[in-house]
Amino acid sequence: MLKLENVNKTYTEHQALKDINVTFNPNETTVIVGPSGSGKSTLLRSLNLLEEPETGTYTIDDQTINFNEPIDKSTLLWVRRKTGMVFQQPRMFDHLTVLGNIIEAPVHVLKQSKADARKEATKLLEEVGLADTAKRYPYQLSGGQTQRIAIARALAMHPDYLLLDEPTSALDPEIEAQILRILKQLANEHESLIIVTHNMEFAKNAADRMLFLEDGAIGFDGTPDEFFNHPTDRINRFLNAYKI
Ligand SMILES: Nc1ncnc2c1ncn2[C@@H]1O[C@H](COP(=O)(O)OP(=O)(O)O)[C@@H](O)[C@H]1O
Ligand SMILES: [Mg+2]
Repeated sequence: MLKLENVNKTYTEHQALKDINVTFNPNETTVIVGPSGSGKSTLLRSLNLLEEPETGTYTIDDQTINFNEPIDKSTLLWVRRKTGMVFQQPRMFDHLTVLGNIIEAPVHVLKQSKADARKEATKLLEEVGLADTAKRYPYQLSGGQTQRIAIARALAMHPDYLLLDEPTSALDPEIEAQILRILKQLANEHESLIIVTHNMEFAKNAADRMLFLEDGAIGFDGTPDEFFNHPTDRINRFLNAYKI
């Protein structure tokens, strides 16, 4: 369980998160939607401690972090390990092959043997449909392949929660569908996923839970059925903006 209570985050003058109270349950797929600038990335990055809110608490399992106090390095690493992050435009180590990129953290951080890490990386590459890219270098990959490898790389660390920030918004629709099918498969396997996306079809099909953020606050927290089939006026306006 990941739980934020009374969390506030301000960038210089702008308050990006306003008194956020939310719990993410294990084995669920939560889809976060909302207008641009509403705080979705800040919320996700706070869960991974890439951003540190000024106030509030963050409880992971039974350990509570108080944002009023400095966070020590071991806590930071512990949180990063629990919450794997996949970015919109993932970065890879240019001098390492795809396999090398995937096993890097499992070998150096989790202290897995190279043989075990390679075996698992190979299996993960198969799962994302890219077994044939193991020996390639990052410059030899398309954007869609890079994104699928980023998902495999994050899964190789066995995070309790996988956080994805608009993982498909830099991709063509056809490639987007490939990625979303992989995420749907993970959702079906009851991985714990928190996904920021603008793809409402995906949200409808894969989410166990919807969060709607607006102006730094949570405007909706409930089921996809409520969100899509019984929307409030505000959510209806948001959804209508996606219709052609
Ligand atoms: N590093 C930053 N410095 C200053 N303002 C920021 C920074 N990151 C985000 N913001 C601002 O905070 C608000 C929320 O941003 P963000 O979390 O990226 O929203 P979203 O992901 O929903 O588009 C926006 O107004 C954005 O301009
Ligand atoms: Mg964002």
